[in-house]
Amino acid sequence: MHFKTSDNIEAMSTKLIGNSRVSALAKLDRMLQGKAFRGARFFIVLDENSYACCLPQVISRVTALQEAEFFEVPVGEECKSLEVAAQLWGALLESGADRNSVIVNLGGGAVSDLGGFVAAGFKRGIRYVNIPTTLTAMVDAAIGGKTAVNVENAKNQVGFFHQPVAVCCDEQFLSTLPQAELVDGTMEVAKTLMLSDPDAFDMLDGRPLAAPEVIAHCAHFKLAVVKSDPHEASLRKILNLGHTFGHGIESWFRDCQRPISHGRAVGYGMWCALYLSVGKLGLAPTMLERYGQWLKGQVVIPRITLKDTEGILGYMRSDKKNADGEILAVLLQAPGVPVIDVSIDENEVRDALLRLK
Ligand SMILES: NC(=O)c1ccc[n+]([C@@H]2O[C@H](COP(=O)([O-])OP(=O)(O)OC[C@H]3O[C@@H](n4cnc5c(N)ncnc54)[C@H](O)[C@@H]3O)[C@@H](O)[C@H]2O)c1
Ligand SMILES: [Zn+2]
Repeated sequence: MHFKTSDNIEAMSTKLIGNSRVSALAKLDRMLQGKAFRGARFFIVLDENSYACCLPQVISRVTALQEAEFFEVPVGEECKSLEVAAQLWGALLESGADRNSVIVNLGGGAVSDLGGFVAAGFKRGIRYVNIPTTLTAMVDAAIGGKTAVNVENAKNQVGFFHQPVAVCCDEQFLSTLPQAELVDGTMEVAKTLMLSDPDAFDMLDGRPLAAPEVIAHCAHFKLAVVKSDPHEASLRKILNLGHTFGHGIESWFRDCQRPISHGRAVGYGMWCALYLSVGKLGLAPTMLERYGQWLKGQVVIPRITLKDTEGILGYMRSDKKNADGEILAVLLQAPGVPVIDVSIDENEVRDALLRLK
């Protein structure tokens, strides 16, 4: 007999709320006023920027949240710490939060990673809702139930799988997002399109990637992948396209005091993955060319020296997703046809990095 795990059931219950004729926030309001949330108290976790740029719209549109208490946390990675999580647990206890209480994360991926972590731990797990306010969070971070904090400078090393009950994507929040953050999110959009859409490369040349229908497509694709593999046993690994190289690039350049944002590092990492895909899986070379052209139009490509190559390789060797000392990556056979766990050797890594120009 086949039993579904409770996590599977939990993952399947995440409700994705987007804009259509009725605004996403109005739909969220209806949901939070429903029977499932009767008597619930709401606690909004946000940072300085989402407080200033996004809270007013939320309060005016979501009446269920008008009485909510809110907790402001430091901006960016600063908030993803055990200390901040402990402060929130203390504040929740002091406010009399109970098992029926709901955390509402209003912000980018840092806020939803932290707030989800706090929800997962509080009284052994309470419900939470994500209202993502960055492009990265709308198409990626807010969906999928991976919650985490950083410990001793190691990113996302302590966390839980705990699925949000709802993710409410309202693109109006992107109007105040700094351009650099928008470009970072665009890289995750490009990743999702390449994984999910045979016409991905036409989309790169065409309409803006932060368009509402593109965001909705990416969010639904991620949720579908997560539903079928909540714990990343197999299929979910496809979401790491560009990330094996990307994490190496991000970590090495941070060490060298020349930091490159996660999104940009993933953008460069995807070029390396596509480059290897041409030789190893027969991806059409025109796809690599088109992606390269698109990438150059978005970001400046860094100069990668031999020394950088060895540094990046050092990080890639210790990637937690490798097995038996091999470097494993997600490559692309064709747009919409990713292949997981492709073994790549060190010379292939060096070659790809040195050709990134
Ligand atoms: N859990 C997952 O599956 C997953 C996936 C991808 C990334 N992540 C995590 O997400 C984090 C990155 O997320 P991010 O890129 O959203 O960064 P972020 O949360 O740090 O937000 C980026 C910046 O934008 C500001 N901001 C947010 N919304 C705004 C708005 N509407 N207007 C103006 N400013 C706004 C923030 O205050 C911050 O300064 C990382 O910690 C990463 O590890 C998690
Ligand atoms: Zn990423």
